[in-house]
Amino acid sequence: MIYRRAFEFARARLSEGRFEHSLSAAEYGHALGRQYGVDPERVYLAGLLHDVARELPAGSLLLYARKQGIILRKEEKTCPLLLHGKVAVSIVQKELGIKDKGVLNAIASHVVGRRRWTKLEQILYIADKVEPTRAYPGAGLVRGLLEEGEFERALLECLRNAIVYAAQSRGWIVDTETVVVFNENAKTQA
Ligand SMILES: [Fe+2]
Ligand SMILES: [Fe+2]
Repeated sequence: MIYRRAFEFARARLSEGRFEHSLSAAEYGHALGRQYGVDPERVYLAGLLHDVARELPAGSLLLYARKQGIILRKEEKTCPLLLHGKVAVSIVQKELGIKDKGVLNAIASHVVGRRRWTKLEQILYIADKVEPTRAYPGAGLVRGLLEEGEFERALLECLRNAIVYAAQSRGWIVDTETVVVFNENAKTQA
């Protein structure tokens, strides 16, 4: 059973706290999938596995990326942690045999978003940022919007929070992809 294997796989690779976060993102994402018409099982699987490369050191992330032929963007060279989604994809393909392109894309894009992304990717992105163990002030607001059915506004708030948080954190950078995705969403709303 792939869910059991994915569960054990993530548990073996992550600290207790980050595993709890992954499980919570999977469960919250499952509920959002049901609410917003995306296959909950696929969100759940992506949630369990999205951070399996999150605790690898920068050197390993760069090595994995190079071996996989991932062409590094400027931001990823500056801040290799941004690669942890793409590297997770190559790990779960190889070690768990995950082939579902939608699930793999969701894992890849959970870090900074992706232009023209699918609803599945958007749901994992949101679930990662505001699953119930996330306690920063903006998270509660986003969860409230989601309860009210305001998916697009919730997504925009998540992107805004991510940009502001990155800009305010020393040792971190604002990824241009997130800015592009934010602008794509922002221009569609009043
Ligand atoms: Fe992550
Ligand atoms: Fe995460």
